[in-house]
Amino acid sequence: MDAGLEKIVVAETVLSDVQGAEGRLIIRGLEVEALARDFSFEQTAQHLWTGFFDGEPTQAALGKARVAAFERLKPDFARLAKLPEVEGLRAALALAPDGHDLASAVDLAATTAVASGAIALLKAGAAPLAPDASAGHGADLLRMIRGETPSPEEARALDAYLVTVSDHGLNASTFVARCVASTRAGLGSAVIAALSALKGPLHGGAPGPVLDMLDGIGTAEKAEGWIRNALDRGERLMGFGHRVYRTRDPRADVLKRVVETLPASSGRLALAQQLEGRILQRLAAEKPDRKLDTNVEYYTAILLEALGAPRGLFTCLFACGRVTGWIAHAREQLSTNRLVRPASTYVGPRPRLAA
Ligand code: CMC
Repeated sequence: MDAGLEKIVVAETVLSDVQGAEGRLIIRGLEVEALARDFSFEQTAQHLWTGFFDGEPTQAALGKARVAAFERLKPDFARLAKLPEVEGLRAALALAPDGHDLASAVDLAATTAVASGAIALLKAGAAPLAPDASAGHGADLLRMIRGETPSPEEARALDAYLVTVSDHGLNASTFVARCVASTRAGLGSAVIAALSALKGPLHGGAPGPVLDMLDGIGTAEKAEGWIRNALDRGERLMGFGHRVYRTRDPRADVLKRVVETLPASSGRLALAQQLEGRILQRLAAEKPDRKLDTNVEYYTAILLEALGAPRGLFTCLFACGRVTGWIAHAREQLSTNRLVRPASTYVGPRPRLAA
């Protein structure tokens, strides 16, 4: 038995290669560093979806789909915003089509962004902002979250984030997406199931708690005692450790460099860097047998905060980027499909044999 399935290979994929020992991530033939530097959200969706659909997700198609999603969701915005953020997004996705085609895929990417923006503004007591069909997807998403047009640097920074988290091997949510796709349910079902897996604090629910942790520590002087107490209580330090990486998660450095381009981040970034060093020292001392290093969520938290996103929305924003990967994997699964149906060992009671 391999409870976490870490040694079990269940798919061949052209989508991404997570090289845990080297701390390297290749997304469909490109290093994550190059993708984050050179690609927009739209280009990344095109890159990941190539060969899986008739046609490609253009900027115009995504813009049109955002406008359509806004109109569809409008009557339900108030109810969606009463739910916790991820549940609101999940409910919004349930109203999107559950097809297998490119239009369904584009609609799901658009709905994820539009619902996230509307939920953010409604929770802040403001009215949702209608999408700008002519804007880039990342820029429009940031505009819909903040209620104002971001600077080109900020728009680029959010795009870089969405691209950096677009795909990452068979993480829990992507595996879930492939399981659902293997039943031949639609892309909407795969995305909703994947989002539900993403929500957990061991996966995409970590960045909000990263900020809670940094707030809890407060200053570098208090770090040592705070970290020791947390570890003594058996807690996990959010933004550290990874199932596959045995060295630094390369996405952490990509995002750290992006944060450095944003003036709003300077105070928090400096403290985060100081605390990161202390946490790594402590983890090395407490867990000498397990190499624990910084993962993507640590600098995700600093970046999204610097962009003015509320921390309750961080998991939804992760989904806004990862939705491209989930959809690509769902389509890839279908292309060579075998229903995913692993086996288990029964250890429960057996019926008594009749005498
Ligand atoms: N803080 C403290 N101890 C930790 C941490 C951590 N962040 N991560 C692992 N450990 C300890 C763990 O308690 C265990 O100790 P022991 O052997 O004494 O029981 C040891 O390291 C091995 O842990 P594991 O359970 O085998 O590790 P895993 O591969 O199951 O866990 C992880 C991977 C990401 C779930 C874990 O490192 C964790 O909980 N990190 C904090 C949450 C987090 O940052 N999640 C985001 C992950 S990256 C984004 C994504 O891809 O979703």
